[in-house]
Amino acid sequence: MSRILVLSSSIRAGRMSHRVAQHLKRHIQNTGRHIVHLVDLQELDLPLFHERLKFLENPGPEVLAFAEQVRSADGVIMVSPEYNGSYPASLKNVIDLLTEDWRKKPIALVPVSSGAFGGTQVVTQLLFTLWKIRAWVVPGAMHVPNVKDNFQEDGTAVDAEAWARRTTALLDELEWAMEARIKMA
Ligand SMILES: Cc1cc2nc3c(=O)[nH]c(=O)nc-3n(C[C@H](O)[C@H](O)[C@H](O)COP(=O)(O)O)c2cc1C
Repeated sequence: MSRILVLSSSIRAGRMSHRVAQHLKRHIQNTGRHIVHLVDLQELDLPLFHERLKFLENPGPEVLAFAEQVRSADGVIMVSPEYNGSYPASLKNVIDLLTEDWRKKPIALVPVSSGAFGGTQVVTQLLFTLWKIRAWVVPGAMHVPNVKDNFQEDGTAVDAEAWARRTTALLDELEWAMEARIKMA
């Protein structure tokens, strides 16, 4: 079975986008096709970037554990809140930390906002950064607008059918890229 990492990137107290990460984990688990890990940057509480991991002399165990999670993943789903038209510093903190581990890594984007547009500007910003680092972003982000109204605290979607359909579409893109990557290796 392939391994999918769901990266929950908001570390804010009272965050809402983590609900979406929980939904994604559950949905993917229920397909029975993948091993899924939810990596929570709030829980990991990684230090602020000082240098890329490959140049760090004494990286902490939590940094090494995070790197290993990315390294061993066949695909990554980045759940990102929209902060001032971009993605949060916590996400940039871990993108910059790694180098080769992001290369050709299939990545699906899930921008989340409390507003009506579902983090459209996050995609523009993240796409450029991930392109620079040579990751492989799949088409068709799953935008989540008005997150509080769409997902309950435990990650249950209010309109389960609609969000299952959107999640399936996102997963389909990610699975295609993961399969292609394995074939090309
Ligand atoms: C610093 C900051 C900036 C924000 N900027 C935007 C924004 O530009 N557009 C928007 O729709 N929502 C914005 N929001 C609201 C977030 O999208 C909202 O908190 C949402 O729940 C996702 O973030 P969270 O997971 O941290 O809760 C902002 C929130 C914070 C804390």
